[in-house]
Amino acid sequence: MVKKKLMAALLGTAMAASLLTGCGGAADSGNSGSGDSTTAAAVEETEEATEAASEEATEAEASEEATEAAADDSAGGKKVGIAMPTKSLERWNRDGAYLEEQFKGKGYDVALTYSDNKVDQQVKDIEGLIADKVDLLIVAAVDGESLSQVLAEAKDENIPVISYDRLILKTDAISYYVSFDNYTVGKLQGEFVRDQLDLDNAEGPFNIEFTAGDPADNNAGVFFKGAYEALEKYIDDGKLVIPSGQTEFDQVATKAWDTPTAMSRFQNILASNYSDGTQLDVALCSNDSTALGVTQAIETDYAGTNSVIVTGQDGDEANLANIIDGKQTMTVYKAVANLAVATLDLGVSILSGETPDAGLIDKAGWDFKCVYDTESYDNGTGKIPSFLLDPTVVTKDNIQTELVDTGYYEMGEDGYPHPTK
Ligand code: BGC
Repeated sequence: MVKKKLMAALLGTAMAASLLTGCGGAADSGNSGSGDSTTAAAVEETEEATEAASEEATEAEASEEATEAAADDSAGGKKVGIAMPTKSLERWNRDGAYLEEQFKGKGYDVALTYSDNKVDQQVKDIEGLIADKVDLLIVAAVDGESLSQVLAEAKDENIPVISYDRLILKTDAISYYVSFDNYTVGKLQGEFVRDQLDLDNAEGPFNIEFTAGDPADNNAGVFFKGAYEALEKYIDDGKLVIPSGQTEFDQVATKAWDTPTAMSRFQNILASNYSDGTQLDVALCSNDSTALGVTQAIETDYAGTNSVIVTGQDGDEANLANIIDGKQTMTVYKAVANLAVATLDLGVSILSGETPDAGLIDKAGWDFKCVYDTESYDNGTGKIPSFLLDPTVVTKDNIQTELVDTGYYEMGEDGYPHPTK
């Protein structure tokens, strides 16, 4: 910011100088008598303008610094502890980076931990953050049910906790939940399949298999429910058939959202139900890490030649490449950069002693959609007030507008999008 303003002021000076030099030049050629004095005056004016501009720039700089200092003051040396689940699932790297950037930008100290998808590690990480006397905790849980004890310690220390992206269950230590509308994520996947197959008009039947996420992650069941319910009526009337018979969340779940686990389960499904030439039309996968495994299984173990509709979520790099190459059909993108902005404003509000509610959305004036929901997310101790952002369907057709033009990704020379964070 300081740099931008300084540059603008200096550019202004240069322009003023060149305009004045221009006048001097004209006088030189048209009126040599008074030319010198005009030039001298112009030089003097230029110098004055330069001085004024550089004073302005210094003032601008000083006022920017004051603003930053004020931000520091409002942060008041406060520290924010961020506990992310793992670096091995791509999106959390982006979440961590965006959150860190947002809070540091406002002058907060930030401690960011990753727990290698291990519950014990995450408990230790959070204990460490509490011992470190953080003023606010932002937690994306590895396992939604395993943090009750450690978060009770946070509560004892009066540290507010924001449940980030994944709802943390069985604890009354959570102040707020910030996420995307998880049911809608699944619903968008189901509706995408409905539209691709034109289920309201086509005769079918079509064959579909589901792959869901980690049972330890509260989101996984919600995504599956959203997708399944969008397709249920077509399943009930026989237009959509599930040859494996695996229709329950527990049957289709993937521990730790792990790619190789999703792949080997899908290889089994293909071997048991499709090796006789049965056509697979859809692999509905809850997210990109599972879609990646399923796509690999289809590539190596599926005998059919049709292109299977494959859904996903997140916009992971390898999956976007697969979308470009036609191996995956869509992903549901969640702008985690915006989630970080919402989390910052929520965190700042909590730390200033407010009790944020729907009013925060108006006050913050975000340029993205967000709803305040006090009904949908009950964590077993009561309903948790939630701020929910809007997910977006991304296909080959809108990768450029949704992901590249928005600055989240850049298109590489290899023709594939790469995350900018
Ligand atoms: C997130 C998804 C992500 C999955 C695995 C879920 O809790 O909401 O965006 O794909 O975890 O990382």
